Amino acid sequence: MKFVQKYVFSEKMRLAQPRAHRVTVCSVRGPANRDTTPMITYETNRPLTALDFIGVLNRSTLGERRPVHDVTRIQTMLDHADLLVTAWCHGLLVGVSRALTDYSFCCYLSDLAVDEGYQHRGIGKRLVELTHEMAGPQTTLILLAAPKAVGYYPKIGMQRHEACYTFDRTE
Ligand SMILES: CC(C)(COP(=O)(O)OP(=O)(O)OC[C@H]1O[C@@H](n2cnc3c(N)ncnc32)[C@H](O)[C@@H]1OP(=O)(O)O)[C@@H](O)C(=O)NCCC(=O)NCCS
Repeated sequence: MKFVQKYVFSEKMRLAQPRAHRVTVCSVRGPANRDTTPMITYETNRPLTALDFIGVLNRSTLGERRPVHDVTRIQTMLDHADLLVTAWCHGLLVGVSRALTDYSFCCYLSDLAVDEGYQHRGIGKRLVELTHEMAGPQTTLILLAAPKAVGYYPKIGMQRHEACYTFDRTE
């Protein structure tokens, strides 16, 4: 499906309070028939409930790799995130990017998920771009690819880093 993008993100929005709510930053609209072509709207830091977040994680399959059965832990993940970029289609949450950032050096994108029914339309790529734009040009965007998405990140232009190390979580 072919989309035309209408881009209304501004520098003022980037400099606004990081947790400002319901900032619509971009929309993607089908060119011809608006009744049958979905319009995707992107928002930053629109509050999500834990159940909203769990829903889109499950609909994307990323729920297999996140603690979706622990609502309190999911809520804590939302409460302490710095950037939440979401994609919506007629009120349905169809994509999410959750990131932690200092807005001046680094941005860790922890969770990227697109509802399976809306994948392969450029939504994931747009969520990553908007996350990095909101974090700011001085930041490096860093993430760990889930096994299913290892081949994805090079396709959207990200560089593989050979010197990444982790301590695994114990719970
Ligand atoms: C990975 C994911 C976020 C991609 O979202 P998306 O909206 O479908 O991706 P896009 O439409 O932006 O895809 C851009 C390109 O990458 C390709 N691509 C999409 N998913 C891919 C994947 N899993 N592996 C390899 N390439 C992929 C697309 O085909 C497209 O290429 P094209 O130019 O040939 O069309 C989505 O598939 C998803 O939520 N997967 C399950 C959860 C997951 O693994 N998340 C990542 C956690 S690190």
